[in-house]
Amino acid sequence: MLKHLMLSAALVMSLGTARPLDAAEACAAPDLDAEGCFDRSCSFCHRDVTRLMAPYADLAPEEARAELDRFLTRHHPPEAEMRAALIDWLLMPEDQASE
Ligand code: HEC
Repeated sequence: MLKHLMLSAALVMSLGTARPLDAAEACAAPDLDAEGCFDRSCSFCHRDVTRLMAPYADLAPEEARAELDRFLTRHHPPEAEMRAALIDWLLMPEDQASE
């Protein structure tokens, strides 16, 4: 837990003024799919999707979806429509492998 907090603080400090595009901005591009949104807004902090999703692997799909929806409402929040598409993509590793 402390480790997580320290990691967050370090990331916030290292971003400084040259912050990358806000997830909401990056993921609002009209032709962007979930994978593109993740690549632009999430992948510079989360390089390994399988590892990112590991804590959700044992949850029932509906539970994982609800957890992620709640979490991503506060965490670099993409707009609602993209959030739903992003969650679909995150929960379907076979889609990630095929693209
Ligand atoms: C600036 C770096 C950064 C960006 C950008 C970022 N994250 Fe995160 N993410 C973190 C950190 C640090 C944590 C762990 C601490 C926390 O819970 O906030 C985390 C935690 C998470 C978790 C929870 C994992 C768990 O263990 O339960 C998920 C899911 C997640 N991020 C998804 C995303 C998605 C999707 C995006 C893009 C919309 C995104 N993140 C963008 C840094 C980032």
